[in-house]
Order: sequence, then structure tokens, then C-alpha cells
Amino acid sequence: MKKILVVFGGRSVEHDVSIITAINSVIKPLRLTKKYQVEPLYITKEGKWFWDESLSNIETYSSGKIANLTKKLKPADISFNDGLIISNGKSFNSKKVKIDIVFPALHGTYGEDGDLMGLLEMAGVAYVGCGVLASAVAMDKVISKQLAIANKIPITNFLFYQDKDYKANSSKIINEINTNLNWPLFVKPAHLGSSIGITRVKNNEELETAIELAFHYDSLVLVEEEVSNLIEVTLPIIGNEVPEPAYLERPTLQKTDFFDFEAKYLRGGKKGSKNGQASSSYSQVPAVLPKKLYKQAEELGVKIYKSFGLTGIARVDMLIDSKVGKVYFNEINPLPGSLYSHNFQKFGLSNVELVEKLLFFAMERFEQKNKINSSFATNYLKQF
Ligand SMILES: Nc1ncnc2c1ncn2[C@@H]1O[C@H](COP(=O)(O)OP(=O)(O)O)[C@@H](O)[C@H]1O
Ligand SMILES: [Mg+2]
Repeated sequence: MKKILVVFGGRSVEHDVSIITAINSVIKPLRLTKKYQVEPLYITKEGKWFWDESLSNIETYSSGKIANLTKKLKPADISFNDGLIISNGKSFNSKKVKIDIVFPALHGTYGEDGDLMGLLEMAGVAYVGCGVLASAVAMDKVISKQLAIANKIPITNFLFYQDKDYKANSSKIINEINTNLNWPLFVKPAHLGSSIGITRVKNNEELETAIELAFHYDSLVLVEEEVSNLIEVTLPIIGNEVPEPAYLERPTLQKTDFFDFEAKYLRGGKKGSKNGQASSSYSQVPAVLPKKLYKQAEELGVKIYKSFGLTGIARVDMLIDSKVGKVYFNEINPLPGSLYSHNFQKFGLSNVELVEKLLFFAMERFEQKNKINSSFATNYLKQF
């Protein structure tokens, strides 16, 4: 029986969303198969790691029991010397499990951004989803846009600034923005998600306030032109070398809600499918678009998946100017909330099939990497 470690929670603003992704969309379907030994590894907001069966129960969190539990439990011991081994203590009778595949279910910083993946690469263990570089690139809006440009993927015009440069000469920067970009503009921190710190601005006064707000969250900030006549779409994709897109999906939140974390998660969760993922009333699956435009967006999504070296699963967000019929790349989510299983389900892939496919892709990539010979003998040390 393959042993799967599901890692979730974490030091990110999306901590709570991650718990739902892990329990509802990963642990439950994996256990339904009765084919795997599924182990929950929960990381607290402070960054402590715990391993205990009760952590796979949603009630532990919804009832608030988690606070006492993490005081009582001993943090997990993780060793990397012979693959990845997890244990709950150092005594002879402590429980120990050697993990075959890690299933990261973390969103945002310290998890979705490549940090955890680096640790898993060092441990030499297979894991689900995107690798270190693809994850890190996807979580950086500036690098993402630069990589898009290199691959001739359309993006809106943008400029970006370091905190210290802006502080040193803000009027020059405001001038530069006015000369080079067309209003209205979007100001964004380079690394956060969930619309935190993002503002749409129409004049210099709003621009300055928005830049200051964004610098509150990140030392790198970008300013970009708005896509007018906007239709937003997102395309969840799975696969390694051969990307398999699900349906193009169109979120149908009110425009005024775009920056609203609550709108994205809480309302969708309560009204909708109870598991925190975008409910059908908050999105249209598949997106109703002219056939040609649908195909154009789908093809661009797949091109982005390939160009960015995404593997396992990711969701590509695009912005469409519906009047001109042009599709722009917006951003990539290397680990979409709840795996976007509602979309895959509609597409014909059950949640169980989805997680099993993801395990398959994880093993496929792991085995491919292991085939590449990375050691060779030299006489280098003999000379010393
Ligand atoms: N250039 C743009 N033109 C029009 N709308 C935009 C643009 N950039 C962002 N938005 C709106 O703001 C939302 C959040 O921006 P996004 O870059 O996706 O940040 P996040 O990482 O927080 O999701 C988008 O979903 C979209 O509604
Ligand atoms: Mg977004």
C-alpha cells in the first residue's frame, strides 16, 4: 500500500483554505479508494508541523479544538536521510512511516511557491504538482510576465518597482507610469494572492495610495493596464508533458467583489457546495463564449502550461477583452483551491479519479527525473 503524506495549513494567508483543500479534496477521495495509507501533516500558522489522525477531521478545526490539540501533541519529526520518514517521537515505540508520495495541499507562501518542493527534492521523494522552479515563477507576478513575454504570450503593459527605489524618487516613478501606461491601472504586490493589496486606480492620487498599500505587503510592486470589456476565465489543467485541460471556467462574481477575499471563499463556501470551492452560482462551467474565443483561450492556457514547465496540476487565469476578442495571460495558480475538482467533475473526472491521476503524474515525473544520471566519478579529490 502506497503511503501518501498530505501536507496542509501553513504560514500563509490561505491557511484555512488549504485545510479544506486537503481534507475534502485530497484526503477524503484518497481514502475512498482504500488503496493508500493516507497520513495528514498539518502545519500551523506559526509554522509548527503536526502529524496525527485527528488532523484529518474537519471538525477538529471548525470546533476550534485545534488550538488545544496542537498544545498537547508533540510536533512531528521528519527525517530526510533515507527518503522521507515521518515519526511522532524519538522513543523505540514511536510511530514511523516512510512516505512514497507527498501531496502538497498548501496555498500561497511557504508551500505553493516552491519552498516545500525544494525540501521534497532534497529528500528524494515523489510529490504531486509543479516543481520548484515552475511553482516559484508562478507565484511571482513580475517574473511570470517576463517569462510570458519571452514566450510571446500576450500580457497587458506593465511596469514594476522596488520599495527602496520608489521611496527614493516617487515623483519620477509616478511620471514614468503616466507617460508609459494607459489608465485605468491595476496596482499589485508581486507575490501575494487572493486579491490582497490589489487596487484599481483612475488617477494619480489613487495611484500613489495604491502603491503605498501594495508596498505594505511586498517589496516589489507592479502597475499594469486594465483589460477593458473584461471577461475573466480560468483553465484548470492536469498532466506532465501532455497537458489535459478541463473546462474553461468563467467566475461570475460581481466586479466590485474582485478584491474581496470573502467573496472568493466565504460566500462561495456557504451558499455553494459546502466545501469552500467556487460554487456553481459563482462561476460558469464551461464558460459561455463564442466558439473561436473559447478555443483561443483554451489554446493559450495550454501554451502557458507548457511554456512555464507546469506539471501535475495548475490553473491558468486569463483576461479577455471581449470587444477586441483578445486573450491576455493574467496569472498561474500552481495548486488551485480544492483542486478545482468541481470543474474536473463536470468534465467527467471524479474527485477520486483526479487525485489518482495526480499521484500517477507525480510518480511519472519522479521516475523520469531518477532516470537522468546525475552522478559521475572524477579524480578531482585525488590531487589533495
Ligand atoms: N489588468 C487587469 N485588467 C482587468 N482586471 C484585472 C487586471 N488585473 C487584475 N484584475 C482583476 O483583479 C483580480 C485580482 O488580480 P490578480 O492579478 O488575479 O491577483 P490575485 O493573485 O490576488 O488573484 C482579477 O481576478 C481581476 O478581476
Ligand atoms: Mg487572480
